[in-house]
Amino acid sequence: MQKYSKIISTGSYLPDKVYTNHDIEKFVDTSNDWIIERTGIEKRHIASESESSVDMAHAACIDAFKNCAIELKDIEMIVVATTTPERKFPSTAVLLQNKLNNNSAFAFDINAACTGFIYALDIADKYIKGGFVKNALVVGTEKITSLLDWKDRNTCVLFGDGAGAVVLSSSDTPGIISNTIGSDGSYKDLLTVNTDTEVIEMKGNDVFKIAVNTMGKLAASTLEKNGFKVEDLDWLIPHQANSRIINAVAKKINLPEEKIVMTVNKHGNTSAASIPLALDYANKQQMIHKDNIIMFEAFGAGFTWGSTLLKF
Ligand code: ACO
Repeated sequence: MQKYSKIISTGSYLPDKVYTNHDIEKFVDTSNDWIIERTGIEKRHIASESESSVDMAHAACIDAFKNCAIELKDIEMIVVATTTPERKFPSTAVLLQNKLNNNSAFAFDINAACTGFIYALDIADKYIKGGFVKNALVVGTEKITSLLDWKDRNTCVLFGDGAGAVVLSSSDTPGIISNTIGSDGSYKDLLTVNTDTEVIEMKGNDVFKIAVNTMGKLAASTLEKNGFKVEDLDWLIPHQANSRIINAVAKKINLPEEKIVMTVNKHGNTSAASIPLALDYANKQQMIHKDNIIMFEAFGAGFTWGSTLLKF
């Protein structure tokens, strides 16, 4: 019988500290109206100085195991998507494994910027489908505000911190129907953090246009290659960078706005954490239900991109 992987639990964590747009108005030349109109963002969570991407990932995983059919000791694989590791090495995933007191898994990190969670999910899905492991923990965690120049209004208004986690388990029925991932390194300088400056530098306009085009095509081709019509989709859970990007992509595939999970207003762009955070939000709000057809979609620095089509 064909094996699938299925998300059996979700969890998330957001730091206590919140910056509203009005807070940011105090230290950079911007306005609440501009940020809302151009990005849809109203507030974002900011990790404390002592709080790392491992701490946030740990809290999201504990949340995911609150109501989970399996236990932490049953996890055989931990994949963490992050661009903001606590240490250069060991990996965030290994530090997380230690904090979770799990000694049965192998653990490693993925860096595909904002697309990282979909890359991580794709790898875990393949290990499960291949029969190599039964249960995996897939996490997106970011202390992305540690890479911000708080004097650069082009970037500092956009990002926030947080973590999201899913437990992925072997199943006889779907589950994940398909994953698609891609990258093109020729765009390496449009959105980057160089090791000498350690701050995000971005050509926002260019990123915007390529993001909309790439994600529009990717959404359409993901549905088509799996024999799905846009009407079959219950929810789109996209990477949360900018509500205008999300709405433009939905428009390209004729998806009504009511079918989009939108959290960018509450969280800002949390990079690799944004999809699992939005998924857990939609799950806890009981927006998504068992057997719903859901598409994840992301785009990020590299450029990288990816989509996941799944039955929840
Ligand atoms: N507050 C006030 N004014 C601002 C701000 C700000 N924070 N930032 C820029 N402006 C000004 C600019 O200086 C410019 O002024 P000018 O016309 O006098 O020159 C004006 O606003 C318009 O600037 P643009 O850069 O053209 O604004 P745009 O509508 O493109 O919005 C934004 C900028 C929000 C960054 C948009 O380009 C964007 O979202 N790009 C995608 C970037 C992104 O999401 N990156 C994250 C990672 S990749 C991903 O996740 C998809």
